[in-house]
Amino acid sequence: MVFIGFSINIEAGKSTALVGQSGSGKSTIIGLIERFYDPLKGAVKIDGRDIRSYHLRSLRKHIALVSQEPALFAGTIRQNIMYGASEDIDESEVIEAAKAANAHDFIAGLKDGYDTWCGDRGLQLSGGQKQRIAIARAILKNPAILLLDEATSALDSQSEKVVQDALERMMIGRTSVVVAHRLSTIQNCDTIAVLDKGKIVEKGTHSSLLAKGPTGAYYSLVSLQRRPNNSEIN
Ligand SMILES: Nc1ncnc2c1ncn2[C@@H]1O[C@H](COP(=O)(O)OP(=O)(O)O)[C@@H](O)[C@H]1O
Ligand SMILES: [Mg+2]
Repeated sequence: MVFIGFSINIEAGKSTALVGQSGSGKSTIIGLIERFYDPLKGAVKIDGRDIRSYHLRSLRKHIALVSQEPALFAGTIRQNIMYGASEDIDESEVIEAAKAANAHDFIAGLKDGYDTWCGDRGLQLSGGQKQRIAIARAILKNPAILLLDEATSALDSQSEKVVQDALERMMIGRTSVVVAHRLSTIQNCDTIAVLDKGKIVEKGTHSSLLAKGPTGAYYSLVSLQRRPNNSEIN
C-alpha cells in the first residue's frame, strides 16, 4: 500500500511540484492521474468528476506526460513528435516544437533528419535525446494537463537549462504536476508539496517552505542538495 488516507488538491491552471525522497509516491500520483492504475479506495477527480467516469482515450487526450524514460514508438522522429497531437499539424509546427525542446539541432544533424526511424531496431538515441523528443511531443500536443516526472533528468545541465525554459513557458496558465529530483528546477512552481512515506508533510511556495528553517522537510531536502561550498540557499 503506497497511500493510506491520502489527499491532495491540485489547483487548475497552476503548477504543483511534488518532491520527496525516492519511493515516497511521486510517480504513483502521476500514474493515478494518467489512470495507469486506479486506487483501491477513494477517487481521483478532475473538474470535480471521478476520472473513472471519463472515456479513457478522451481523458488522455488532455494530458501529456514526459517521464524519466520516455517511450519512443517504432516510426520516424517526426511521427514520434506528432504522436497524440491533433491531425492537422504542419511541418513548421513540428519544427517549432522541436526547437523549443532543444531537439531540432540534433535531429537536423542526422542523415535522414525528421525521417530518421526510431523505436525497435531503429536509431539508438541517448536518454537525453529521447527526453527532448518526448518534450517536443508534449509541447506540440498542447495539453490542458502537463505531467513532468523527472522530465529533464537525462539531460546535461546545459541542455537542461534550455529545455527548462521551454517547459516553464509551457507551464504558464496550465495545470502542471512536476516531479524533479533537482530541486532548483521546481522552485518557481506555484505550490510545492513535500511527500514523505505516502503523506504530504508540507505544502507551500519555495520561499514560504524555506522560511520554516532547518526543522522543515523542504529545507532539509534543499540543504542535502546544496554543494558544500555553497553557503547560501536561494
Ligand atoms: N509497479 C510497482 N509495483 C509495486 N510497488 C511499486 C511499483 N512502483 C512503485 N512501487 C512502490 O511504491 C512506492 C512509491 O513509489 P513511487 O511512486 O515510484 O515513488 P517515487 O516516484 O516518489 O520515487 C515505493 O515503495 C515503490 O517501491
Ligand atoms: Mg518516481
